[in-house]
Amino acid sequence: MPFKQQALLRQKLFVLGSLAIGSLLYLVARVGSLDRLQPICPIESRVAPHLPEQFPLRTLQYKRGILHELRKGNATKEQIRLHSLVQQLPRAIIIGVRKGGTRALLEMLNLHPAVVKASQEIHFFDNDQNYARGIDWYREKMPFSFPHQITIEKSPAYFITEEVPERIFKMNSSIKLLIIVREPTTRAVSDYTQVLEGKERKNKTYHKFEKLAIDANTCEVNTKYKAVRTSIYTKHLERWLKYFPVEQFHIVDGDRLITDPLPELQLVERFLNLPSRISQYNLYFNATRGFYCLRFNIVFNKCLAGSKGRIHPEVDPAVLAKLRRFFHPFNQKFYQITGRTFNWP
Ligand code: A3P
Repeated sequence: MPFKQQALLRQKLFVLGSLAIGSLLYLVARVGSLDRLQPICPIESRVAPHLPEQFPLRTLQYKRGILHELRKGNATKEQIRLHSLVQQLPRAIIIGVRKGGTRALLEMLNLHPAVVKASQEIHFFDNDQNYARGIDWYREKMPFSFPHQITIEKSPAYFITEEVPERIFKMNSSIKLLIIVREPTTRAVSDYTQVLEGKERKNKTYHKFEKLAIDANTCEVNTKYKAVRTSIYTKHLERWLKYFPVEQFHIVDGDRLITDPLPELQLVERFLNLPSRISQYNLYFNATRGFYCLRFNIVFNKCLAGSKGRIHPEVDPAVLAKLRRFFHPFNQKFYQITGRTFNWP
């Protein structure tokens, strides 16, 4: 072989060899970093209600791929039978609070191979018409899952609707209930921002937050304003406690879910008696969005829709201070009842 061709061949072999070694080193580093990233945060101990069966996670992870494929292709009856798929009533419900981060929580929990989410808000227990359709209607709204998996739904209106605790109790008195809360004044402004955006989309005008939150006659906080009432968490929780013991609730810190989601998710895994499977690998900060986004695997990742994480309008600091003073005693009671304390003012 002429010398020039030999040199070319050597060069090609060198490039190929370097690529192979590079890929190998990358894989080793990746596996190593995944290992290191698994249990990074200590989990607060908490008594969880009775232990369900253990989940064979390896099998589930594999089966989850099948589920995804079936969902994409609209599973046929034969496929459903073949894979023993079922539509299960939820074993845990995110009951609220609106604007607390309910969507982010549901989507992040769905990263767990043993969890299947109901994508839409079903509004079964808070809507009389839906409730009258019966429990089978509700079950049919649930996604297909493998029998070992748990289904979770979220409808934030449940938390504040009078009839809901009794109705859920009648369905399953040992269901696990998740409540995600944010600092109450911030949550109220977030709630207002959502309504304001809806009005603007329809070219309608809307009052300023200050006008709605403060009663013009008394200059006191307007407790008739829904965004204020929803943030009085303890009032709503007390209604729920007439039906469910406090151990059946888990409070999620919605502010921390924004800034550092993994420890919050690990607490929920523990509450649901699930082995810890969501890791730092599944969550990455997206600087453009300004929020954590979800990584399911090397090819599939997603951020929440733009309607999550809106820019709030500026509010008079005196009004914010008044609201914070107003919520203070209710917050203290909430900490007392739930055993979870926040750094809210
Ligand atoms: P803002 O729009 O006020 O920022 P919900 O899903 O209950 O309606 O809550 C919406 C809130 O979820 C948003 O409120 C946002 O701050 C919060 N959130 C938490 N984690 C998020 C994430 N990873 N991406 C987008 N929004 C997130």
